Amino acid sequence: MKSPKPKLLVARAMFPDVLARLNDYFELELNQEDRIFSPEELTERLQGKFGMICTSSAKVNQELLSKLPELKIISTIAVGYDNFDLQACTQYQVMATNAPDVLNETTADFAWALMMATARRVTEAEHFLRNGEWQKWGVDFFVGADIHGSRLGILGMGRIGQAIARRAAGFGMDVIYHNRSRLSAEQETAAHRARYVDKESLLRESDHLILALPYSPESHHSIAAAELAQMKSSATLINIARGGIVDDVALIAALRNRQIAGAGLDVFENEPRFHPDFLELKNVVLTPHIASASERTRRAMVNRAITNVIAAVRGEVPPDLLNR
Ligand code: DGY
Repeated sequence: MKSPKPKLLVARAMFPDVLARLNDYFELELNQEDRIFSPEELTERLQGKFGMICTSSAKVNQELLSKLPELKIISTIAVGYDNFDLQACTQYQVMATNAPDVLNETTADFAWALMMATARRVTEAEHFLRNGEWQKWGVDFFVGADIHGSRLGILGMGRIGQAIARRAAGFGMDVIYHNRSRLSAEQETAAHRARYVDKESLLRESDHLILALPYSPESHHSIAAAELAQMKSSATLINIARGGIVDDVALIAALRNRQIAGAGLDVFENEPRFHPDFLELKNVVLTPHIASASERTRRAMVNRAITNVIAAVRGEVPPDLLNR
């Protein structure tokens, strides 16, 4: 008799035609209603499961893992994995994987979209028009900051940061960056001749500062009141990384006092909740964590997560194993 297939939980709703690849290997439990499971429900649904494909909304920690002796792999469709306690995964011999690379270009596109919308006040101007406030054109009407010829600063120069930098070539920008470690000379050249600077110089000299670093206890509130105080009053701050990197209360004060000109935020510390004061500010562009949201890229992210669980069930090392 054929042995039953191992069980896999797909913790959020995602492209059924892409998930079909899993049918040869697993008995699937889907979440067609796309609910966010509470920790209790996640524990219950993961009983007897070989693995899980999830998003950043699934928090995997010691408490959860201690109740799941059969679990072998957790595979997020995201590149960011701050929702996984990797130490606990290793302790309980659970493989943890993410989905790097496939979203670099799409996320970089969106960082640019936010930067341009923020610098050129696109959403503010659109609200003005939609609200029927447009009576006449004026010389100082919604004047913003130029992108072309300005200096782009990037905090976190991983693969997404480098993809953001490459796009600066078409706009004749000067690119500076700060990162845990300096890139090689070849990587800097490819990233539109990006120059490595210390964090203070990055804050002081950037006209547009994009955050592209991973979230960790070390990067928590990397941009707070002291950092915002060093930025140019004409500067914009763009966050496509994780909300916890920025101290929202300090940012709201800086935007309100025009200590910086504007911010474009795709991520929030406790999303989907966010600080209500952001809604009262005109100089902020707000989007609901959609930087990687193109059809092709989201499918590729799910496919990458699938490749990882299939490798695991075949007894191979998943290509994106995080806790080697
Ligand atoms: C990522 O891949 O980390 C994106 O932020 C989506 O969660």
